[in-house]
Amino acid sequence: MNVLIVGSGGREHAIAASAAKSGHVDKLYCAPGNAGIASVAECVDIGAMEFDKLADFAEEHEVGLTIIGMDEPLVGGIVDVFEERGLRVFGPRKNAAMIEGSKVFAKDLMKKYGIPTAAYEIFTDPEEALAYLETAKIPIVLKADGLALGKGALVCNTLDEAKAAVKTLMLDKQFGDAGDRIVVEEFMTGREVSVLCYCDGTCIKPMTSAQDHKRAKDNDEGLNTGGMGTFSPSPFYDDKEIQKFCETKIYRPTMDAMKAEGREFTGILFVGLMLTEDGPKVLEYNARFGDPEAQVVLPRMKNDIIDVMNACIDGTLDQVDLQFEDNAAVCVILASDGYPESYEKGKAITGLENFDGKEGYYVFHAGTKEEDGQIVTNGGRVLGITAKGRDLTEARKNAYAATEWVSFENKYMRRDIAINFV
Ligand code: AMP
Ligand code: GLY
Repeated sequence: MNVLIVGSGGREHAIAASAAKSGHVDKLYCAPGNAGIASVAECVDIGAMEFDKLADFAEEHEVGLTIIGMDEPLVGGIVDVFEERGLRVFGPRKNAAMIEGSKVFAKDLMKKYGIPTAAYEIFTDPEEALAYLETAKIPIVLKADGLALGKGALVCNTLDEAKAAVKTLMLDKQFGDAGDRIVVEEFMTGREVSVLCYCDGTCIKPMTSAQDHKRAKDNDEGLNTGGMGTFSPSPFYDDKEIQKFCETKIYRPTMDAMKAEGREFTGILFVGLMLTEDGPKVLEYNARFGDPEAQVVLPRMKNDIIDVMNACIDGTLDQVDLQFEDNAAVCVILASDGYPESYEKGKAITGLENFDGKEGYYVFHAGTKEEDGQIVTNGGRVLGITAKGRDLTEARKNAYAATEWVSFENKYMRRDIAINFV
């Protein structure tokens, strides 16, 4: 079978690397892909939002399965376009991807179905939001309703910061229309865990856990980014009682709620959890693999990824025995110095060949491109260096050793990925 992956980041490289190992794949394509994905798939110059062109390509090249990696096309309805044309596709339809596309929708769903999450209020009028903040408990969290590249949540430690956040989101419109409505949410404390789940509309199966480091600088300082590194599994999610609570009070109720609303969810449901003193609560839902969570979870998965995705589409996920290796993985992002604000691109990357044939080590490309036969930096997050180990301590040591195998001029990384958690 020919398979097409839609997207261009480290997550799509990790999906492509897993698909390349599948016994079901004849030819692998990725649109638009990047310089690293080109080593396992043929990259096709079609943008992720060009739904008709992508569907034309799938028809012309006899693609038997298209996997959507990114949030924007999912929220925009790419799955509906493919299905209308009779093309097999992995991901939620537009009406289900709304669980990521609108924070207001997600919060209201959780409230209606009693799924634990932070208390919240919704505002469309900045004056009303400001008036509410005067009496609200601080710290407090403000979130743009719509998609904002994972950067639309502002944690405010003072009233002044919260007022400035209303301006950023609603008046200056830093995230465009995404800030027309905002969620103002209770601040929660605890350990964060990301649990990615396969879903077939009825059945939901959680994968091994992971944790992201979202801030740009060590000690969780600096600006929020797309993610500077991850590790898997999370030792804080090891507890069987916590897992049982999440399965019975969060994952299954979410699937049932989406079904009851006529929005059956098929694909990957990413549940961002905060393990609070009062038990696990939902921070956010995403409708796709996390990036860079996929880069530590997928290398540990034993199943053939195409088998699992097909089961999700066919509604037979209950028959799949999902299995993960009994080890750990750590991913350290190599970024361009200055990310997520301003940074230079086009720097030559050397040493990539050091990963060739190294079992348990991966270099996932996020922002790279090929220029005159040389691979150069082409984004804020450039590469994800993943290594496995028997446990987190060993995986961390291996991953940091491997970060030294590649060089580029303005290479930047956090030094404390997985450090306090082992
Ligand atoms: P989100 O995009 O909703 O996952 O938010 C991004 C990050 O902001 C999360 O990973 C948390 O670190 C933080 N955050 C979001 N909501 C809350 C909350 N209610 N309480 C504390 N921290 C939060
Ligand atoms: N790493 C968080 C996300 O993919 O949204």
